[in-house]
Parts: sequence; structure tokens; C-alpha cells
Amino acid sequence: MALVSLKNVGFEYPGGFKAVESVSIDIERGENVAILGQNGAGKTTTVKLCNRLLCPTEGDVFVSGKNTRHYTTAQISRIVGYVFQNPDDQIFHSSIESEVEFGPRMMKLSEEEIRERVNDALTISGLVREREENPYNLPLSVRKFITIASIIAMNTDVIILDEPTAGQDLAGNGRLQNIISTLLERGKTMITISHDMEFVAENFSRVIVMAERRVVIDGKPEDVFWDFKALEKARLMQPHVSRICRRLGIADHLIRLDDAVKAIMKHAAWPKK
Ligand SMILES: Nc1ncnc2c1ncn2[C@@H]1O[C@H](COP(=O)(O)OP(=O)(O)OP(=O)(O)O)[C@@H](O)[C@H]1O
Ligand SMILES: [Mg+2]
Repeated sequence: MALVSLKNVGFEYPGGFKAVESVSIDIERGENVAILGQNGAGKTTTVKLCNRLLCPTEGDVFVSGKNTRHYTTAQISRIVGYVFQNPDDQIFHSSIESEVEFGPRMMKLSEEEIRERVNDALTISGLVREREENPYNLPLSVRKFITIASIIAMNTDVIILDEPTAGQDLAGNGRLQNIISTLLERGKTMITISHDMEFVAENFSRVIVMAERRVVIDGKPEDVFWDFKALEKARLMQPHVSRICRRLGIADHLIRLDDAVKAIMKHAAWPKK
């Protein structure tokens, strides 16, 4: 069975609002998945169902073969780590170091292991120099990296990043790229929600698009970003690279800058530099 498996899942919030409907997704170990969709499409609700912050009101969610409804959030969150969309929902310590060590401490690890986990998470997230700082003296974009470090320190098999690109500049996006590739090299399964089409086109091997509570399309980014029906349904635009290639009428299924440059050079028969 897949590491994370949603089987015909629906979720209704206590007030009666249905946020997710008939969602079936299987995610295998080591996959690098992006979730796209307009505001309110149901992305955050879906990933919260994956780590048992929420329990489905219809269907079932399995993590490592365990039906999450029979386990506590504390148990499932040892396997699936979730970085909140808003860092301020996650941070409650007065220094970066104490924030990041909180999870490993709750796991009752040895002092040595806690040290190692914290140092490693701070190094990957680029926060070693700021470790003594109060998170609330730092900008939101940095607070996001603090919450990422906290989840890295938990060493879960699956890591979910909810909108890590929001509010990041070019350097922030580069830092995120490095974090994701380091974690993938370590065998982690990555699920990332983003509104940044270019970031998704360049960095992920599978894209799930949601609209109006449901999954509209789930596949390789080069197929998803050229499925105009699905994109229209989700009210998403193609990445810029694909739009340019489409306008030029050259090979479709292009989504990455390097591939597009090669195709455009060939198409235009420009002299090589
Ligand atoms: N606690 C809640 N109670 C009631 N409705 C909620 C609650 N949380 C979210 N919703 C509603 O459920 C729908 C889906 O919300 P969700 O946060 O999953 O969307 P999203 O795709 O993550 O959107 P965004 O891109 O804005 O983060 C929205 O209409 C939202 O208003
Ligand atoms: Mg959200």
C-alpha cells in the first residue's frame, strides 16, 4: 500500500461547510508532489487529513497502512510532519533553538540526539547564525523557515509544506529548493502546496490540482501544465515558459526554462554563442 493513501475522502467542518469531497490520492515513499489550486480549493484541509490534524467525515485515510481514524494526531504526526500555512499558528517559543528542539524533546530523545537533530535542522534551513533569536523579531519569510526546521527535526518519513513560497523572494525560493532536494536525497516523501507555477514547474515530479473541493488532475507536471481543460477548471495559468512556447507554436509539453531555451534556439535556428 502507498505510504499515504486517501480513499474517497470527504471532510465537512463542524459548522457544516464541506471543504473536501471524493478525494482519492496515493502517494508512494520518496515522491515529490506539489498541490496547486485557487484559494479555498481544499488544499490545506486535504493535507491536514494526511497527518490526522483532521479526521475524514467520509472515506478513509491510511498512513503507512494505518487507518488514521484509529490513531491519535500525536501518533500519526510521528510519520507525517506538517508545516502550517501560517507560521504563527505553529511557533510558540521565544527562541529559534527552543522552538526547533520542542518536537525532539516531546519524543523523549537523549540530549545528544536532540542536539544533533536541532543542529542538522538549523543547518539545512540556513538558520544556524540566528539560533538564539526570538522568532517574532524576524520577518514572516524567516519564521516560515523556522517552522520548516521544527518539522525537519522531527525526522518524519513524510514532510508537508503548506505554501512555503508565499512571501519568499528569489533567495527564499532558492533556499526552499535546496531544502526540498536535501530531504528527497534522504528518502523523505515531500508534499508541497504552492501558488507559484514557475516554482512547481521547475521542482516537482508530480502535480495534483484541486478545484472546488476535488482533485481536477493528478499527473506529471509536463502533462498537467498542458491540460487546458483542467487548468481552466481550476482557473490556473500555464507557467510563463509554457505560455511563450505555446505562442511561438513550438513543441508542447515544455515547462522548464532550460528545455524551452533549447527548443526555441532550435526553432529559430539562432547561431550558437
Ligand atoms: N475551520 C474551518 N471552519 C469552516 N470552514 C473552513 C475552516 N477552514 C477552512 N474552511 C473553509 O474550507 C474551504 C477550504 O479551505 P482550505 O483552507 O482547505 O483551502 P485552501 O485550498 O488551502 O485555500 P488557500 O489557498 O486560501 O490556503 C474554504 O472555503 C474555507 O473557508
Ligand atoms: Mg491553504
